[in-house]
Amino acid sequence: MRIDILTILPELLESPFNHSIIKRAIDNKLIDIVVHNIRDYSTNKQRQVDDYAFGGGAGMVMTIEPIHRIIEKLKQERKYDEIVFLTPDGVRFNQQIANRFSTLQNIIILCGHYKGVDQRVRDHLITCEISIGDYVLTGGELAAAIITDCIVRLVPGAISDETSALSDSFQDYLLAPPVYTRPADYNGWTVPEILLSGNHTDIEDWRYEKALERTKKLRPGLLDGKID
Ligand code: 6GU
Repeated sequence: MRIDILTILPELLESPFNHSIIKRAIDNKLIDIVVHNIRDYSTNKQRQVDDYAFGGGAGMVMTIEPIHRIIEKLKQERKYDEIVFLTPDGVRFNQQIANRFSTLQNIIILCGHYKGVDQRVRDHLITCEISIGDYVLTGGELAAAIITDCIVRLVPGAISDETSALSDSFQDYLLAPPVYTRPADYNGWTVPEILLSGNHTDIEDWRYEKALERTKKLRPGLLDGKID
């Protein structure tokens, strides 16, 4: 799978993909993440990528031309399954969307900024609009890092224990059960006895019960299939 990220702040995306699971997935060629600086596609001497809004008002708007040029260039090189625009007024990202994206071959992620991008980008160049939650970020870069992280760990082989991505919170509409590791007794704070029993059927039942309990308490809507 290949993810192309279009941004005016490529520096913001240097670190997130250089560690742990994502780095390993890249090193193992399971995934290719390519960050593009939109400024490199500006024809303007000052490498300008924004301009005043027609009709006035505060805030600059990202111009269509450099974005169009880079998207056209990429589309000539390969076929893209989705061209995603990150914006607080997009569809709220969740595990189902992550699952679907993880099955795609090539996607472009465009990070929004300023007051927004020229509406014609949204009308003509992109295929879907995603938000990561009901709050406003300064730009789409951190959202791109989150979405990419979420997708990459679902790509087969990215996580060494293949089953562990499937037992995640939200994957089955249940929050994950509590987990423990050594020591079994830490200053009197003990681990539930059943986990030390070696009885795997009982342990699975216990985990399911705990997952259900947590979900009922913290996110009851999930039990009705509501991700909200
Ligand atoms: Cl994708 N972008 C921005 N700027 N703010 C957000 C967001 C995205 N998702 C939630 N807030």
